[in-house]
Amino acid sequence: MFNRTALEALTRRPLPFLGSAWPWRCAAYLGASVVPGAAAGLVAAAVLAVPEAFRVVTGPAALMLVLWPVARFERWRLRLVDGVPLPEVPDRRRREAGLALMTLLALWWIDLIMMLFTVAGPVVLVLSPVVQPAVAPGVAVMASVAGVLLLPVAAYTVAAWGGARGAMARAILAPQGSELSEVLRSRARLVDAFEMERRRIERDLHDGAQQRLVALSMTLGMAKLDMPEDTDVGRLIGLAHDEAKQALAELRELIRGVHSPVLTDRGLAAAVRDLSGRSPVPVDVCFEVPGRLPAPVEVTAYYVVSEALANIVKHSRATTASVTGRVERGTLVVAIRDDGVGGADAVKGTGLTGLADRLSVVEGRLSLSSPIGGPTLLRAEIPCS
Ligand SMILES: Nc1ncnc2c1ncn2[C@@H]1O[C@H](COP(=O)(O)OP(=O)(O)O)[C@@H](O)[C@H]1O
Ligand SMILES: [Mg+2]
Repeated sequence: MFNRTALEALTRRPLPFLGSAWPWRCAAYLGASVVPGAAAGLVAAAVLAVPEAFRVVTGPAALMLVLWPVARFERWRLRLVDGVPLPEVPDRRRREAGLALMTLLALWWIDLIMMLFTVAGPVVLVLSPVVQPAVAPGVAVMASVAGVLLLPVAAYTVAAWGGARGAMARAILAPQGSELSEVLRSRARLVDAFEMERRRIERDLHDGAQQRLVALSMTLGMAKLDMPEDTDVGRLIGLAHDEAKQALAELRELIRGVHSPVLTDRGLAAAVRDLSGRSPVPVDVCFEVPGRLPAPVEVTAYYVVSEALANIVKHSRATTASVTGRVERGTLVVAIRDDGVGGADAVKGTGLTGLADRLSVVEGRLSLSSPIGGPTLLRAEIPCS
């Protein structure tokens, strides 16, 4: 999965996280605090190096001199831990000045102390055979091993502090949701419009095409009764009747994909069991969801399961699959697994990307794990409130 911020990267599994660039980026972000540190030193020098009478002038002057460069530097280095572009805000200058002031007064040395404690500890331990020749070799080697084991811990600490520090800088530079919520709202409108269109198509198919096909199939059935089967025309009518029945069955299936009456009437768990029951690949269902969930949550989860099962049939060559669902601390977690060939990738098609878009509207998340050779796991988390 692609992560946009250090905090997001922290939620990955340990190996991908430790192998990624994020711990290094966070270390670079925190280490870069030597720059505002030097600027703070400059201001201090401007105060201390002049006679007392001038300090009221040189102090503020030096501060004004370094404030804007530090503000720009803070904005620039935020990209190391947070890849989301900053929105333009009207009071940008004031916000940047606030962040620069905070950095000059306190944040720079907190960053550096943090780095010193988390990184220097393990590094000194690793180097103990070299830096502490007086210690018995066995003890030194053990200290070295302990140091190596502590390095991943240091990576997590550095990434957590770097990420939190970045989140704080972002919160100061851009008020929450200034631009993003508008994007989200317009996306929600789009999905609402899509939802209405979906209902209209379902209604038209149900009341129009399906009724006509039923009538056609009945007429052909009656014609078949009147025509002896051993004539050519009789055989053709028989064939046409079968075709019409087949078309009707396919149309019913299509309507069910567009809109599930089971979902509307009996809720998500029943609809998921219904979908799984129809799948040609045997599906094990374990769905424990209390009562009914909000409609957008149910519809979104239904699409996730529907697309995942369709993918399993189309692409996975799996022999078994499973669907699980439960509500954990107010979040619906749905997971679909299969024992197929793996190698699923959202960029290769449109289905998974569409799901991710839908999920983002209800502020949910979609994650996919599908190594070549399988197994494939698709997991959706949807907040229920
Ligand atoms: N369960 C799966 N097992 C193996 N490969 C999969 C699975 N699901 C999806 N894929 C692969 O990932 C691609 C992307 O899936 P998707 O976005 O749903 O596109 P599509 O429209 O082709 O179904 C598919 O084209 C397929 O190659
Ligand atoms: Mg698909």
